[in-house]
Amino acid sequence: MLYSQNWSDPNTASEWSKDANKYNPVRAEQLEMLLAILQDEFEPGKTMLDLGYGSGLVEELIFQQMPNAQIVGVDRSDAMMALAAERLKPYPFQFVPVKFDLTRLPSILGPDSPLPRQRYQIVFSVQALHHLTTEELQGAYLTVYDILEPRGWFLLVDRIAVSKPGLWNAYHSLWRLQEQQHDTAIQEGKDFDDHAAVVAASGDLPISLEQQLHLLSDAGFEADCLHLHTNRAFFAARKP
Ligand SMILES: C[S@@+](CC[C@H](N)C(=O)[O-])C[C@H]1O[C@@H](n2cnc3c(N)ncnc32)[C@H](O)[C@@H]1O
Repeated sequence: MLYSQNWSDPNTASEWSKDANKYNPVRAEQLEMLLAILQDEFEPGKTMLDLGYGSGLVEELIFQQMPNAQIVGVDRSDAMMALAAERLKPYPFQFVPVKFDLTRLPSILGPDSPLPRQRYQIVFSVQALHHLTTEELQGAYLTVYDILEPRGWFLLVDRIAVSKPGLWNAYHSLWRLQEQQHDTAIQEGKDFDDHAAVVAASGDLPISLEQQLHLLSDAGFEADCLHLHTNRAFFAARKP
């Protein structure tokens, strides 16, 4: 089974946060890539927005390296947000939490918007948006485009769908290789159908790499996938 996805459960929240790399050994590498781009592109005085900031692991990593970083984070899980509040205590002036349901992201842009009025230069999201349906994702990307200032970045680290059944054995070989390299257990199912059942049972709704790129370019972004390991992808998208 994939990890339980009940983020409102305090046990799930703390167990996942204790070892977020456990089922995804590529996470550390893709977070390094995210950080490298943030360090080069972030302009002090502006603000970043994190969609699905969870227990604040990504913020902690960023604040340790970027003392000028300002981040507004959106999440809806009280359990994850409480862990983040504790973790981010050393950075009281750099982080603003906003409780909001990402499935309704387009409605965040009203006159009563809970988002602080800032110049959002970068929006990023790590392992969170695969919980949205394709339609919700489409609305979310259009909203991200509207929130961003011109030339702003949208950086996305997320699970994508394993969509080509004929390639299953190759995916499987690479996960076994990762297990040996990282001494971990990657629980993606024993065959293509089992994988689909495991993903469905966990409530994840990943879409394919091609669909991701279409949604991003339909929203107006110049976008590409900069790193891919099996079903874990890192996308960079930029508003013209
Ligand atoms: C796997 S955790 C990732 C947390 C963080 N981005 C990280 O990488 O450490 C997924 C997070 O997405 C949040 N999330 C999932 N669906 C959401 C929704 N519809 N609205 C707001 N947050 C959501 C969960 O509450 C959880 O904190």
